[in-house]
Amino acid sequence: MKNLELPFRPRRLRTTAAMRSLVAQTELTPRNLIQVLFVRDGIESPQEIASMPGQYQHTLDSVLDEVSRAIDAGIACIDLFGVPLDEDKDDQGSVAWAEDGILNRAIAAIRHKFGNDIVIMADTCLDEFTSHGHCGPLTTDQFGNTVVDNDASVESYCKMAVAQAKAGAHMVSPSGMMDGQVAAIRQALDDAGFTDVAIMAYSAKYASAFFGPFRDAVGSSLDGDRKSYQQDPANRREGVLEAQLDIEEGADFVMVKPAMAYLDIVREVADFSPVPVAAYQVSGEYAMIEAASANGWVDRERIVLESLSGIKRAGADMILTYYATEVAGWLK
Ligand code: PBG
Repeated sequence: MKNLELPFRPRRLRTTAAMRSLVAQTELTPRNLIQVLFVRDGIESPQEIASMPGQYQHTLDSVLDEVSRAIDAGIACIDLFGVPLDEDKDDQGSVAWAEDGILNRAIAAIRHKFGNDIVIMADTCLDEFTSHGHCGPLTTDQFGNTVVDNDASVESYCKMAVAQAKAGAHMVSPSGMMDGQVAAIRQALDDAGFTDVAIMAYSAKYASAFFGPFRDAVGSSLDGDRKSYQQDPANRREGVLEAQLDIEEGADFVMVKPAMAYLDIVREVADFSPVPVAAYQVSGEYAMIEAASANGWVDRERIVLESLSGIKRAGADMILTYYATEVAGWLK
């Protein structure tokens, strides 16, 4: 049979492993993966998170070991969440900005031990610390409805960010989706002398069912949802507006979260953002991969790498993921 007369045969570039590697456009590197870590007050040993097998609530000691492992693997940044004692939660979440609060103690211990060897990023939100589990203090509107108070929340985030900077955080990350949070935090950090502390803004954060396992991970007290402050999964334009506003307010990074179901938003933000774009592969994404892998339904290593490459290919410069240190080990 005569060969087809084709101007292009795209398969030529797929013929050998060397040819494929020559033309690969997306490459995962350890330094672009941010390891997410939990540290919990009042525990003697690390506690595995039931819905996130392989992930732990760490003690102040074991979190140092994890950071050390991350640095050895080539990771450049960790993102820290704190889990306080139940009795330390109140309706304002005030232990979030207490110098001896669990998150601030962990930041200080990590900074003391590792200095500038890794970028210490702290979650700057109140939901782990409030007795009601919302991302800020509650108030009652003129019709008697309970709502999360935007401006009061922002005021508390400012105190929290300054406390985190004092403890040694290189970067704070407001994740509460309150309007004006980035500008206010920037001003508060600058006023306190922390002009070099960066802000990674959770810009396009959706009210997502993919956060389910995280609520386990932080022992969330939430009863209800966050739909009045996190974005509606139906909306695209809003994600773009939120990222634009955060950049105007002084965000050093913008983030899209979750990742996998929102890759269109990642791409759209990446196409205009003058600042680095991060995406967060969240707890539900992790849990789904782990559950399917444990059943032998998917190839765990391949699917982890493919999910992360997809996020990067969509335009993310860096990815927050529970897999960071492990994947960095594979990439070596
Ligand atoms: C809230 C916060 C959440 C996550 C990160 N920060 C949960 C929420 O908004 O309900 C979720 C992370 C994950 O699911 O991995 N400050």
